[in-house]
Amino acid sequence: MFVALDFADLKRARECAAELRPTGVRFKVGLELFCRTGPEGLRALLPVTGPVFLDLKLHDIPRTVAGAVRAAAAVGVWGLTVHALGGEAMLRAAVEAAGAADRPPRCLAVTALTSLDEAALAAVGVAAPMRAHVSSLAHLAQAAGCDGVVASPEEAAVVRGVGGPSFLVVTPGVRPAGVDQGDQARVATPTAAVAAGADYLVIGRPVTAAADPLAALRAVLAELEAAERAR
Ligand code: C5P
Repeated sequence: MFVALDFADLKRARECAAELRPTGVRFKVGLELFCRTGPEGLRALLPVTGPVFLDLKLHDIPRTVAGAVRAAAAVGVWGLTVHALGGEAMLRAAVEAAGAADRPPRCLAVTALTSLDEAALAAVGVAAPMRAHVSSLAHLAQAAGCDGVVASPEEAAVVRGVGGPSFLVVTPGVRPAGVDQGDQARVATPTAAVAAGADYLVIGRPVTAAADPLAALRAVLAELEAAERAR
């Protein structure tokens, strides 16, 4: 499980990570914190967080993405995201750059943002239904050598079918029962996300914006343990 450190400053991110790390979770750094603090901020965070999942959703021409992947890998990250819509050549360039690093990060392709619903997908010109769209991007990501994809829990089973057992499926859009969806459109409970085949869940505001983040995280972990026992 990754907790998304979507904060505007390093101090809060560090405090949050220090509080939650004893539970064994990992952490994700995204655009907000990275644009504020950059690679230096990331380096300062690593002793508290351990290797992070750097979620910058890179989407540019192959050479530019490869350069960004090399730079991120040099900082030392668990994994990073590129956008599957960048196309096969871009994905291959990212995979190659990651693989050439001293400490190769996992290269994960974002399929369709979990904030998009079917109507929003159609509005950007994609005629295929969400599942078919995510499935074809998962095929593309696998063909390009990516380690896995980021998809919503609603497509986790489809992606697992495409990628097989060793293809990583990472799902944001996780919402414990009764928690506000916020700007996310395709959501599921932690139990449902894991049952659908997710390897890693990403959870942000249900934990980080809770009155007691540690208690909120423990509740999610307890839900997952109970689901595991029931299997
Ligand atoms: O707060 P919340 O649980 O919605 O956070 C989800 C996190 O996952 C955010 O950091 C967001 O940027 C990220 N994410 C996402 N949908 C994707 C890929 C990443 O929500 N498809």
